[in-house]
Amino acid sequence: MDFLASTHLHITSWVVGIILFFVAVLLVNGSKGQKITQMVLRLFYVFIILTGVALFITGMDFDMGMLYGFKLLGGIVIIGMMEMILARMKKQKPTTMFWVLLFVFLFITMFLGFKLPLGSSFLA
Ligand code: HEM
Repeated sequence: MDFLASTHLHITSWVVGIILFFVAVLLVNGSKGQKITQMVLRLFYVFIILTGVALFITGMDFDMGMLYGFKLLGGIVIIGMMEMILARMKKQKPTTMFWVLLFVFLFITMFLGFKLPLGSSFLA
């Protein structure tokens, strides 16, 4: 399963995931289109996590376990926030807090990803 440990596959997965999330947010609440977009988005969560875990295992060679642990947690929290926003939108509950957390964790996770040694490390 070495091919999964590719930053290109990982980046493609989360970029498509984020786009699908925004499409789902913008589509009419409760519409069929929104449901289908969210189903495809959930498939991309699987790709993000699979490629992320494969990179995580490769990254264990660098003795930076704690930073890799934070990277993994940050990625999972982002997925959690996207799901919370879509679920709360459907129930017409406030989502501001989850939007703030989504952007905070997006920043932390992308910062860590570009700092850690695999792929591009222009922040290292
Ligand atoms: C939507 C959520 C996520 C975003 C925005 C994101 C973002 C990034 C970015 C920007 C990189 C750097 C790629 C590069 O250096 O070329 C990266 C790498 C990585 N990601 Fe994610 N990621 C997400 C989810 C996850 C998840 C869920 C996991 C773990 C299960 C994970 C684990 C990793 C690992 C281990 C690396 C390699 C770090 C390195 O050494 O450069 N990511 N990610």
